[in-house]
Amino acid sequence: MNENDILPLMVKDHCRIEKLLDELEKNVDKEHPMMKESFYKFEWELEKHLFTEEKAIFTQYNPEDVTEGYKMLPELIKQHNFIVNQLDLWRKDIRNNKKIDGFYDFKKYLIKHRFFEENEVYPRLDQSLDEKQKKHIISRINEITYQR
Ligand SMILES: [Fe+2]
Ligand SMILES: [Fe+2]
Repeated sequence: MNENDILPLMVKDHCRIEKLLDELEKNVDKEHPMMKESFYKFEWELEKHLFTEEKAIFTQYNPEDVTEGYKMLPELIKQHNFIVNQLDLWRKDIRNNKKIDGFYDFKKYLIKHRFFEENEVYPRLDQSLDEKQKKHIISRINEITYQR
């Protein structure tokens, strides 16, 4: 592993988001204001994370193995779209003072997504980027305020 690798940085961020998800889990059945607060915290950080991945990281990816590499990106975007849609649905529920639906299915989905990125996407990305590209990406990541 290299000091400029993207993977450890994003693993750290995944952990941070998972903690916010755990907090939401604790408050899913609590009274509405508490659940709402946990949801907004979780949503804000997750949306920032997705933005970073799509705008600062994956746009720099130019895979050597074109077939495998380019297969990965549409799959990622598909998963991100699913995540964004679920957040939209929950946001609507919350605005209508309803309980959110399907918490555990979504949790499972996010964990699978995390494994996909940490085991397949980021290792491959770190391999294909040069040091200059990595430094550029890391400075972008830091702009969107990730604690290192
Ligand atoms: Fe992602
Ligand atoms: Fe991620």
